[in-house]
Amino acid sequence: MKNQIKNPMQQGQRLDDWIIPINYTLLFKTNFKSFRFEGNEDITLHIARPVKSIRINSNKIKIKSARVVSKGETINCRIKLDPKNKIAYLGLEKEISGSANLLIDFEGINNDDMYGFYRSSYTTKSGKTEYMLASQFEAADARAAFPCFDEPKFKATFNVTIEIPKDFTAISNMPVKSERVSGGIKTVKFFTTPKMSTYLLFLGVGKFDKISTNLGNLKINAYSTRGKGNLCKMALGYAKKFIEFYEGYFRIKYPLPKVDLIAIPDFAAGAMENWGAITFRETAMLGDEKTSSISSKEQIAETVAHELAHQWFGDLVTMEWWNDLWLNESFATFMSFKAMDAVFPEWQTDVQYFDEVIATAFSADALVNTHPISVDVSTPEEINEIFDEISYEKGGTFLHMLEDFATPKIFRSGLHDYLKAHSYSNATKYDLWNAISASALKHHLKIDGKIREFANKWLENYGYPILIQDDSDPKKFSQQRFVISKPLSSSDDGQLWLLEVKCYDLQKRFSKLMGKKVISMPYAGSGALKLNYGQDYLYRVKYSDSNLEKIGLAIKEGKLSALDAWGVEGDLFSLVRSGNSNLNQYLRFIRDYCMNVGYPANSSILGHIDWLDFMLAGTKEYSGLRDIGSNFAMGILKKLGWSKKPQERSVESMTRSHAIRVLGQFEDKETVSKARKMLDSYFSGKVKLDPDLKTPIYVTCAANGDMKLLDKLLTRYKEEKIPEEKRRLLQTLGYFRGKKEIHRALEVCMSKDVRLQDSFVIPAILSSNPAASSALKKWTFENWQKLKKKYDIGTHMLPRFVDNFSMLSNKEDYSEIKGFFGKKANYRGDIKISFAKTLERISANKRFIDKNAIKK
Ligand code: BES
Ligand code: ZN
Repeated sequence: MKNQIKNPMQQGQRLDDWIIPINYTLLFKTNFKSFRFEGNEDITLHIARPVKSIRINSNKIKIKSARVVSKGETINCRIKLDPKNKIAYLGLEKEISGSANLLIDFEGINNDDMYGFYRSSYTTKSGKTEYMLASQFEAADARAAFPCFDEPKFKATFNVTIEIPKDFTAISNMPVKSERVSGGIKTVKFFTTPKMSTYLLFLGVGKFDKISTNLGNLKINAYSTRGKGNLCKMALGYAKKFIEFYEGYFRIKYPLPKVDLIAIPDFAAGAMENWGAITFRETAMLGDEKTSSISSKEQIAETVAHELAHQWFGDLVTMEWWNDLWLNESFATFMSFKAMDAVFPEWQTDVQYFDEVIATAFSADALVNTHPISVDVSTPEEINEIFDEISYEKGGTFLHMLEDFATPKIFRSGLHDYLKAHSYSNATKYDLWNAISASALKHHLKIDGKIREFANKWLENYGYPILIQDDSDPKKFSQQRFVISKPLSSSDDGQLWLLEVKCYDLQKRFSKLMGKKVISMPYAGSGALKLNYGQDYLYRVKYSDSNLEKIGLAIKEGKLSALDAWGVEGDLFSLVRSGNSNLNQYLRFIRDYCMNVGYPANSSILGHIDWLDFMLAGTKEYSGLRDIGSNFAMGILKKLGWSKKPQERSVESMTRSHAIRVLGQFEDKETVSKARKMLDSYFSGKVKLDPDLKTPIYVTCAANGDMKLLDKLLTRYKEEKIPEEKRRLLQTLGYFRGKKEIHRALEVCMSKDVRLQDSFVIPAILSSNPAASSALKKWTFENWQKLKKKYDIGTHMLPRFVDNFSMLSNKEDYSEIKGFFGKKANYRGDIKISFAKTLERISANKRFIDKNAIKK
């Protein structure tokens, strides 16, 4: 007879469906000397079929003892560990079923790697090092803090108790139920949570500044380390407004009695949506209405809005399994912009959405190495890999399209029904289709069948289409996949998409549903015909040459919006990058037609000019680019001027800043000297500097500066306490162009002056510094083993150092990168995707250069 007990290794990483946790009663005893924690837990289980063993997730914690109490009897467990699969295997003497309690004593370490139950450090005003503890459990690291059933569908209630030194504060998802001090130790008990997933649990211990506000009965709190309470006000105010918006939009009240925003000095991601206890990197939360730049404010608002959206999408209703991660992240991306647009219409985030979210989707999804929004994943490594532009930006763009396709009213009422039906529970994408389709039926809209087809195509397909206009029959378009690394003639893989094709012929708008390969638009004219009118759909267009010229003229004459111009320019630029159109055509197009185009087209063109500046260095085409590029940027700057006008729109302030940065990097004499004067008088303490000008001025001075300036910036960096300014100074160090300065910047990034969470910043900036390519490559190769050691897989940071080579473009670079990271001693599982994408990008760049430039 076969052994009843299977080898745990063969059972893989998923837990058994029939062992269901109902409640966890958890106690953590913290220790601020040893930074080891002791814990015990009592998990109430429902066991749906007789078992002689229990598999539970556990990683890097020591299980001291485990026993099961079933029907009044205590049964000790034999503990077998499967560290590779992060599973503990608890063997029982006796078969059990029905209701049972699993009691486990365990022990762990508060690590410095920013995941699990970890430690963060900071210095107080008096210069003393202090520590705090925080948890980061998503995606699969609750198991690094306590043995648990660490899959999103195992929702349970949690009674958390934490023991801490008496002068510390503890935070968890729910409000404090009781506090008791004895012998210098404070025991903090929290109220029982509603049913929730393990990855959303939070444990925090520290000495904080705290400010609070109310929204009806809801308490909203913001925490930071001491001395930074003032910097919490802005985020707290944003939070209140966004919660109000979401409660109205979803027609569902915020589900918990309180929500905390907590700024943590060491934090791997930007922020994390723990239910009722949201954590942030300091730069993503701390700011000031008066002294923060508009882009910082918007970044903070976006992050707050994003994590708050998760409180409904993700926390109240959670994806059944990570293959539907997009249900979390796409919604948070999409909703955060909706909320910002409602609360801060003056920011025009509805337009910024295109240049941030949709542009990112266009770029990330143009690779052969992409994945469908809906994707099979099983291991934690695979899960972590899909927190990417496809789950965030492409998914967000898909929702934008779906809202348009189903109409905003039906979309919204479908979301409400979906959230209501699956509250405190889990859902899949099918539940969402059903809800939106049902809502369409209810409103007598006959698209319910189409919604599913639309969604399936967009969720299951790889990439997105390009519509190619027929040269001889201008009303005819055919669709095929667009890929940046291949010519159109070989990128068609037979996939088709469902699209609402919206057109504008400068007189009227018309649209038609496209599901087949070829479409014939109801258009008989011979004037300009703009496709994707309003740019709501994710596809590129290749216009016939003659139509493109007409569209160009329409842009010049202001007959098309800056958003539609953004679309046309973006389409043309992608065709150039992919070697399907040529560079001169593009440069002529912006010179002749786009000179005074508004936002977002102008910002996108500045970005493209910047990219070309890097790519074309050392080629004959370089000077032509610089002429057109400086003219373009100068045109913007002349129009906007150096100083803010009263009532100026925030996108204008940001565009000014972008134009100065480009001119500074082009080493434009006038810009450089003006920037240098402004920097010197600001640093001498004589004048204030417009917060929106800081970054462009710093960057301009650095790109044209020497070691003396670098040292000054570095000193300021070390002393700076305000997170936004500290980050700005750090970034600036990556813009220097001298050999010695680049070398110094690389030294700094690995030094003790830079936190682990920020240590990728300088190399990332250097990766688009045209003077730093070979130094960065050499440095990365020489330090690779050190980097591998420095970044635990749990930090998700190592792949960034591979991404840094995405701007390279020649054959030798390609083989060098391939050879180096492909070597067994250098490879690590978590760089797999970055490695493939980087190689693809390099080969696309090479095709672009081969086609468009001649090396000098
Ligand atoms: N759930 C994520 C945080 C996360 C990311 C956890 C990756 C585990 C792995 C959170 O909601 C998030 O998306 N944060 C963003 C910020 C947001 C404004 C896009 C982040 O950290 O960048
Ligand atoms: Zn998110």
